[in-house]
Amino acid sequence: MNLFDYKNYFENELLNFVKLEISNEDIKKSLLYSLSSGGKRLRPWFINSISNEINVKDTLLCEIAIEILHTTSLIHDDLPAIDNSKLRRGRETNHIKFGEYNSILTGDYGFVFPSKILKKLPYGNNIKLNTINAYLNSTLRLIEGETEDVIFEKKGINPAYKEIINMYKKKTGELFGLSFSIPFILKGDEDKSKIFYENGIKFGISFQIYDDLKDILYDSKELGKDVGKDENKKTLISKIGVEEAKKFADENLQNTLISFKSENLHHTLKNIIELKNIIEKR
Ligand code: IPE
Ligand code: IPE
Ligand code: MG
Ligand code: MG
Ligand code: MG
Repeated sequence: MNLFDYKNYFENELLNFVKLEISNEDIKKSLLYSLSSGGKRLRPWFINSISNEINVKDTLLCEIAIEILHTTSLIHDDLPAIDNSKLRRGRETNHIKFGEYNSILTGDYGFVFPSKILKKLPYGNNIKLNTINAYLNSTLRLIEGETEDVIFEKKGINPAYKEIINMYKKKTGELFGLSFSIPFILKGDEDKSKIFYENGIKFGISFQIYDDLKDILYDSKELGKDVGKDENKKTLISKIGVEEAKKFADENLQNTLISFKSENLHHTLKNIIELKNIIEKR
């Protein structure tokens, strides 16, 4: 499935699932608001696309869990104490709509909820445990990376090039590492799950650089989120400039395609190349 067809199918499943599974009405309303406001759905799409190509079935719960995790990280990222953003996915951010207290608690819920979802996976206990473990590790590292990002900015620290890349690997790379490796974890192929995990992290570095470039080069209407938020942030662009950062992101992205080629994941590969345009502009 290409991303466009996938989005329609997936959004329906995602929203129905959340409507049925969350009983607290305030949390349900607030999470549904942020989930239904049109993200690109890249991370669940990767799980779906790679799984189809390697013949792994029953991945929907993993797709739902990763999109909830990602959206949750954005609800907290937008909070006044963190990035203080007012627009997300073309709408008011969660805290503008529902109040800060609600967003903090919805975020708390959204970080824990994925593990509960994954307990329902129709797989044997070993694979289920490996899957939940991978989600938990990536969740913790995402939070570590986000913490580093915020501390660098708020404390006026001037991180070295390598420290910025390491922070990107965690705050953004982890969820791509997770989405690239989950199909192989479900297949029980430990070696390939490691290779694709590393590859996803690498992809995430380029993804974050494109995101940082958008913060400078586009307006908030085009992106559906606040721009100019990175003025005081320690980004790779602040370190090496727009041109060099773009060059690095492009070259690094090309490198991540190698393992898709060697594993004959032609469909996913073809779509990533088409996706690059969307990633760079939205
Ligand atoms: C935004 O991610 C946050 C970053 C990691 C840069 P996306 O660009 O995937 O956001 P949505 O899901 O499409 O809104
Ligand atoms: C990525 O960083 C956010 C997370 C990994 C939670 P940004 O702060 O750059 O993301 P946007 O630009 O707000 O989407
Ligand atoms: Mg941020
Ligand atoms: Mg932000
Ligand atoms: Mg950004």
